[in-house]
Amino acid sequence: TKIKPLKGKKVVVTAGPTRERIDPVRFLTNFSSGKMGYAMAEAAAELGADTILISGPVSLPVPNGVKRIQVESAQQMLEAVLGEYESADMVVKTAAVADYRPAAIAGQKVKKKEGNSVLELERTVDILQQLGQLKSRQILVGFAAETDHVAQYAKDKLERKNADYIIANDVSADQAGFDHDTNAVTVYGRGDFEKAFPVMPKKALALELLSLITEKEFSK
Ligand code: PMT
Repeated sequence: TKIKPLKGKKVVVTAGPTRERIDPVRFLTNFSSGKMGYAMAEAAAELGADTILISGPVSLPVPNGVKRIQVESAQQMLEAVLGEYESADMVVKTAAVADYRPAAIAGQKVKKKEGNSVLELERTVDILQQLGQLKSRQILVGFAAETDHVAQYAKDKLERKNADYIIANDVSADQAGFDHDTNAVTVYGRGDFEKAFPVMPKKALALELLSLITEKEFSK
């Protein structure tokens, strides 16, 4: 890309899953591969942004021109994002953050015993919601992975988390969502803004999404 519409802007992208430890050898996680978030970071850097990628555990190389900070848990991701937030112009929350973590991490490997077992979980902090509450000038972009009522839940997240955009992927659709190389999304913004993008490679989609948001937010 020759035009650099994000030159001089700082963009923070989160990507991948989080891991919530149960004991020294076990954890809770999800199917996020990091592909969508890494594509967003690569696109931000190509568009000229000073780009920070805060990543859960994935096996992807660091995109060109991107500074990566690696984290494991939702709590570590929260702390890393807060550390970069003040000076950020845009935060893109592509990560699939755990909503719950084990209430206690066992110091030793949990031994199996007769019968069923119950694992007590507690809520993690909702990072996007926290950023929404602390927002000064930052443009906040969330993702939403839904299997049903996609539009309704996305619009609800926009309000509740004080975000500027929610990019909804219908993760039950073919060729979209977790671990695919392609995605299909609908972007929801304030004032009933809505734009759908057909199935395309995550990298191409990332460029389209960031170009759209940049045009609407930073070209005034
Ligand atoms: O990594 P890939 O394999 O390429 O897959 C991409 C993806 C499907 C993971 C990605 O496109 C996506 O949809 N990411 C968000 C998934 C998700 O966790 O959605 P959610 O509806 O649970 O959360 C909504 C928003 O709140 C997200 O921006 C999420 O980062 C944020 N959140 C959620 C929980 C939490 N504790 N803190 C958060 O900030």
